[in-house]
Amino acid sequence: MSGIRVGIAGVTGYGGQELLRLAARHPQVEVTAAMASSARDGERALPSLTGVWSGDITPLSVADLTRSVDAVFLALPEAASAELVPELVARGARVFDLSGAFRLRSAAARARWYPKTPELETPILYGLTERCRAALPDARVVSCPGCYPTSALLALQPLAEAGVIEGDVVIDAKSGISGAGKTPSEKTHFSERHGSVAAYGVLAHRHAAEMEQQLERAVTFVPHLVPLDRGILATIYVRVRPGTTEAAVAGLFEQAYGDAPLVRLRHAALPDIRQVAYTNFCDIGWKLDADSGRMVLVSCLDNLGKGAAGQALQNLNVAFGLEEQAGLL
Ligand SMILES: NC(=O)c1ccc[n+]([C@@H]2O[C@H](COP(=O)([O-])OP(=O)(O)OC[C@H]3O[C@@H](n4cnc5c(N)ncnc54)[C@H](OP(=O)(O)O)[C@@H]3O)[C@@H](O)[C@H]2O)c1
Repeated sequence: MSGIRVGIAGVTGYGGQELLRLAARHPQVEVTAAMASSARDGERALPSLTGVWSGDITPLSVADLTRSVDAVFLALPEAASAELVPELVARGARVFDLSGAFRLRSAAARARWYPKTPELETPILYGLTERCRAALPDARVVSCPGCYPTSALLALQPLAEAGVIEGDVVIDAKSGISGAGKTPSEKTHFSERHGSVAAYGVLAHRHAAEMEQQLERAVTFVPHLVPLDRGILATIYVRVRPGTTEAAVAGLFEQAYGDAPLVRLRHAALPDIRQVAYTNFCDIGWKLDADSGRMVLVSCLDNLGKGAAGQALQNLNVAFGLEEQAGLL
């Protein structure tokens, strides 16, 4: 078959494996290279993709990754992306990076959270698809948002941009453990997480910087690990401008996402992770107490789907003029 030719680096990781699964089944995409790291010799197999992907998984090679491709996906640790993106750009590749390496625009914020990231002359597009469709066809480097920021920003940006939010924004989010990648640690070990829930990275998580950049306001972000393999549920607490009505809020969301095939507005029927796991949907629900101005939003997605691989593919679809949801439903 022929289609948009893509090379994927990092296919032996959680995000990369999901991306390979989606891309291999995509009717208008052809996977030309599927690469792991270069650190391990020997044949690499992905048993869950048997019957979906029958090509080889090869060690990372920039020359092979960029040979005869229209686009390259990087599903790598951020330090590896930080090193590879400049080289890929120099070779003329269009890059869709799943890592955080190039998400932050401020040099000071990058130095703090992503110290390995170099300056790039090529403009970088922050790839929250629903907010950047028009810019995608011309983008050479698309930095796909993090999973927590995708859930929070899709819920908050329509309200923030309309000036409806007043005061503190609190984002209390729960993530499945695949959000931490495939390498187990003491924190993510089954026996630590099974039957327990823990907050982590409180007031010190790099995704807060990403959210604050995009929202142009401070947020209090508290992530939690919950004993699920996949999914994020963000419960967001805000105060709205006096006089804000339910109809006005619904109108802002309809305006933002009425034509978005992968955002589902649930209004007062608050979503849960089960409804979005293994999909590319972000479901958003909310409750407003108009008298007090208190509002709670709930935004749910699959961290490896809309939070990572699915959104990267959604960006490719739009960048190359395909149907936005192609290969994602
Ligand atoms: N997990 C999520 O929910 C999620 C969501 C949004 C964004 N992200 C971002 O997406 C990226 C990938 O995350 P992940 O969870 O898929 O990670 P992962 O499961 O740890 O997989 C990492 C992949 O990168 C390869 N790799 C590791 N070190 C490398 C190096 N130095 N050079 C080249 N390749 C290397 C690994 O290959 P080997 O198998 O050979 O080691 C593997 O294929 C990360 O930047 C992460 O922050 C992840």
